[in-house]
Amino acid sequence: MTEDIRWEVVEESTLSLPDHEAIAALLGQAFPDWSHWYVGGRDYAGMQPERRVIGRSEDGVVLAHVGIRRMFITVGGEDVLVGDTGIVAVSPRLQGTGVGRELMTRTHAVLEGLRVPYGFLGAGENRIPFYARMGWHEIDGAVGTFSAFTADGAGISETEQGGWMVLPVAERLEDWPAGPIWLNGQQV
Ligand SMILES: CC(C)(COP(=O)(O)OP(=O)(O)OC[C@H]1O[C@@H](n2cnc3c(N)ncnc32)[C@H](O)[C@@H]1OP(=O)(O)O)[C@@H](O)C(=O)NCCC(=O)NCCS
Repeated sequence: MTEDIRWEVVEESTLSLPDHEAIAALLGQAFPDWSHWYVGGRDYAGMQPERRVIGRSEDGVVLAHVGIRRMFITVGGEDVLVGDTGIVAVSPRLQGTGVGRELMTRTHAVLEGLRVPYGFLGAGENRIPFYARMGWHEIDGAVGTFSAFTADGAGISETEQGGWMVLPVAERLEDWPAGPIWLNGQQV
């Protein structure tokens, strides 16, 4: 049984410090290896999102969260507008109960509302099957270069092969350009 969750889609500028702290608290639990990162009101990984999908308990605890930011990336030399999607998290005690599916359904609606050609994300480690089940497609063999997250803020380029996934929104999957992906910045 899923408990009652109050869902909202919020623009970044409407968030208060307690909101940021509540989101950071969830992220610290959902990403325990990065719990040193999500302290206080620090509720972002790399680039700060412009919009968030948030699910809260009745008493305001953040139980589910996604961040989205529109950005242009370069794919095979072409500019592509994407809704970069990240900091996807469900409270550990609710994982595996369908909350992640609900969260991603709501995320897809936001991406559609933004009318971006594609949703885009870099799936960490073993999360590809989850996103694939939610309708995202891994770009076969794609190599992506992005600015890494470093504690001292240095934007060092890192390249990763595999795990780059897109969700066709206003454009077709077949029209995603071939070639290397340059984020030219950080991921959400
Ligand atoms: C990833 C995460 C958001 C998924 O949320 P969740 O609430 O556990 O997912 P759900 O229970 O809604 O599962 C949704 C679907 O994905 C499937 N799924 C989930 N994890 C899966 C996995 N590792 N492999 C295959 N399928 C998976 C479920 O079987 C379910 O399928 P169905 O709805 O068709 O039956 C959540 O586990 C989480 O917060 N993990 C820690 C943080 C993290 O890794 N975030 C992603 C970073 S890239």
